[in-house]
Amino acid sequence: MSERTLVLVKPDGVARGLTGEVLGRIERKGLRIVALKMLLAPRDTAEQHYAEHEGKGFYPGLLDFITSGPLVAAVVEGERAIPAFRQLAGGTDPVEKAATGSIRGDLALETQLNIVHGSDAPESAVREIALWFPELV
Ligand code: CMP
Repeated sequence: MSERTLVLVKPDGVARGLTGEVLGRIERKGLRIVALKMLLAPRDTAEQHYAEHEGKGFYPGLLDFITSGPLVAAVVEGERAIPAFRQLAGGTDPVEKAATGSIRGDLALETQLNIVHGSDAPESAVREIALWFPELV
């Protein structure tokens, strides 16, 4: 079933020049990029995006990191786009969880600096696309 997911190339990925690498992997998988923008995330957008992590030890640092520089936000569409992108990304911990061949498994070392975000479920995809691309809703 065709569906949409929200992808972020986080500030570490943009700063390291990996935007093209990430978008290329998405396209080569057969998924379509249907909306794309680069922006400095406003603090309140970051807080809403990561609301489920509020109260966790890494949350303040995560907000500082995600607002620390430009990021790239994309709406990605295709058959089973949500799990398909999560497979491309690899697990959250780039060393312990992400498979070799995945974006994080190949390109990242630290759990916070893990290059990309992808929606984890249809409900979060709807919420995150509305948050980052209000003009589409
Ligand atoms: P993401 O998939 O965007 O979802 C939540 C983010 O929080 C995650 O990627 C990491 O960047 C970050 N994160 C999750 N767990 C930890 C952790 N234990 N320490 C630091 N950052 C984390």
